[in-house]
Amino acid sequence: MSEPLTTSLPLSQKARELLRLDLPGVHLWTQRRHLLDTKDLNEEELEAVLHAARICKEMTVNGEGPQPILSTKTVANLFYENSTRTRSSFELAAKRLGATVINVDIASSSVAKGETIIDTGRTLTAMSVDCLVQRHHASGSALQITREFGDQVHVINAGDGWNAHPTQALLDYFTMWEIKGHMKGHKVAIVGDITHSRVARSNIWLLKTMGADVHIAGPPTLLPPKLEKLGVSFHTSLEPAIKDAQFVMVLRLQLERQQQGLIPSIGEYKRLYRLDHERVALAQPDAKVFHPGPMNRDIEISHALADDIDRSLVRTQVANGVAVRMAVLHLLLANRNRK
Ligand code: CP
Repeated sequence: MSEPLTTSLPLSQKARELLRLDLPGVHLWTQRRHLLDTKDLNEEELEAVLHAARICKEMTVNGEGPQPILSTKTVANLFYENSTRTRSSFELAAKRLGATVINVDIASSSVAKGETIIDTGRTLTAMSVDCLVQRHHASGSALQITREFGDQVHVINAGDGWNAHPTQALLDYFTMWEIKGHMKGHKVAIVGDITHSRVARSNIWLLKTMGADVHIAGPPTLLPPKLEKLGVSFHTSLEPAIKDAQFVMVLRLQLERQQQGLIPSIGEYKRLYRLDHERVALAQPDAKVFHPGPMNRDIEISHALADDIDRSLVRTQVANGVAVRMAVLHLLLANRNRK
């Protein structure tokens, strides 16, 4: 692999290890321009993310300052929809790799005057931004950007409508990989509001690629049609999905959907679908619980379970989000001259 221009600057031992990472998947990433979903990532590309993220996490654990790996690159965060975790971790990740970062404040930008996402993206690209990290409420919005001017900029989908949230699935898988090494044959339960969840979709694609046994559960009105096409087992009650699972992923109940009458009441949802210590006892004795956040405490997950450090990996997921986003930025942007 060719060394980037930045190696003449001082780099830590771990940063050099990242640059020297020589896996088949690393070479595949150099041919990729965008990250839109996990469904178009193969096993080798996923392995490259895991190993790159492992090194990036070690850089953070060692307390290393910014490394000049992406010091010639500019990353723009374009969050048209609210975010705490994804936006902050992309900013930290880009800065830890030495990139210049712009956080566009959508509320005070020209979007408020009616500018389209295409024109906003084009404007930033004209300023020589190398990578757009975009979250938008419309499914397909990141793909739309790549079709318009994806030859001029790298695009990372940070969540588009109900469709996909690839870096969330990557950080979830990285967290599982740290514990189990691989997921072939291991049971994962994804429970809650599946229909409206981009997190569920991206996780299902990734987990199937890596050979996991995926079970989803939720109220019939919150399970998407044509589930069999996804290659997962599905249940309308929690217990069979959770039984003997190694990991249980709880999804946020999207309270804004309740006006649509998709569940009878919050009380009924809690009674049937809230994950608590009693229900998680059906899973493997060492089973761990995931939640992508933000959590509705005591609706989809009990307060006690959410804060149980022996069971809940919520804080680990957040910490791993920075390492995984560093890995993705590195794999997409390092070792490339502009355009
Ligand atoms: N998990 C997740 O996407 O969280 P944010 O909405 O806070 O980014």
